[in-house]
Amino acid sequence: MYDNSQNSVPVIDCDHRIDDFESAVISGLSDSPKSLPCKFFYDERGSRLFDRICELDAYYPTRTEIGLLKDNAEHISRLIGPGAHLIELGSGASIKIRMLLDAIPDLAQYTAVDISREFLVESAEALARDYPEVSVLAVCADFTRKFEVPNPEHRPGAQRVAFFPGSTIGNFHPQEALALLRRIRTMLGSDGGLLIGTDLKKNPDTLYAAYNDTDGVTAEFNLNLLNRINAELEGSFDIDGFDHHAPYLEKDGKIEMRLISKRDQSASVGPKEFFFRAGEYIHTENSYKFTVQQFRRLCARAGFAFRKCWTDSENLFGLHYLEAGAPDGAGGP
Ligand code: TRP
Repeated sequence: MYDNSQNSVPVIDCDHRIDDFESAVISGLSDSPKSLPCKFFYDERGSRLFDRICELDAYYPTRTEIGLLKDNAEHISRLIGPGAHLIELGSGASIKIRMLLDAIPDLAQYTAVDISREFLVESAEALARDYPEVSVLAVCADFTRKFEVPNPEHRPGAQRVAFFPGSTIGNFHPQEALALLRRIRTMLGSDGGLLIGTDLKKNPDTLYAAYNDTDGVTAEFNLNLLNRINAELEGSFDIDGFDHHAPYLEKDGKIEMRLISKRDQSASVGPKEFFFRAGEYIHTENSYKFTVQQFRRLCARAGFAFRKCWTDSENLFGLHYLEAGAPDGAGGP
């Protein structure tokens, strides 16, 4: 059958996608300890590797969150209300949104926001084909920076609801997470909603296993950052000269992704040269874990009212529904 609905999704490009890659790499590698910003993980290869992480047995967050979305889709759909505009931040393969689209009878618009352009467009096209009744828009942007989301399908009284799954909020330092939540709240307007997933604090062994998988997929994902520097910034990293390690730092409540130099070595990024001692690491990402109480306090400080939290029977993962109204005082005395 001839399918004329192909390439139907409008795409909005924000200019700030990778313009700052080089300066961020040079400034991060000049720091002590050295670091690289995690948003650059997601080139096309990185996005595909990330999808493989999500399918690993040891990586429980994705399947647990999908289970929570499926089991509670009807309740979520009622909270979102009719005619809404769903905006997903970091939409990736746009798999999780399908659980919601299957349950929401009357959605006006779905906007996918992601930094990885080809992946974004491909996923948005597939979604538009599978859900022809929903108007789909793709915005290629770094959601940590300012970007606009238009409302072409706006219906009076309908809400904007942000969908921020995958515990991506945990990849930000608490101060940055607060600032990001505040910006999301501004983007939503005074009566919007936020459906957000967070990984929960738990047994450190379970956490460790999830970020240090025995198949080495997470290692490949982490090391891909060095590949990317080599390819895009005329870098000279010896990829085999680094090991992936992601310890759980209990006092900070976070997993820290690191690339450890196996020996004394130097690598250049364009004209700049950096030296790595044996055992020295580059810090590539944080993944903060929350208790439900901690997360409620953070959201209250960002001006959100907490409506609902769903967790699985093992308390691995939390899915929260917040409203951009007045804070509910969950910060407590
Ligand atoms: N935000 C998720 C988490 O922290 C997913 C994720 C981001 C991730 N970067 C990652 C998972 C690197 C594994 C490795 O778990």
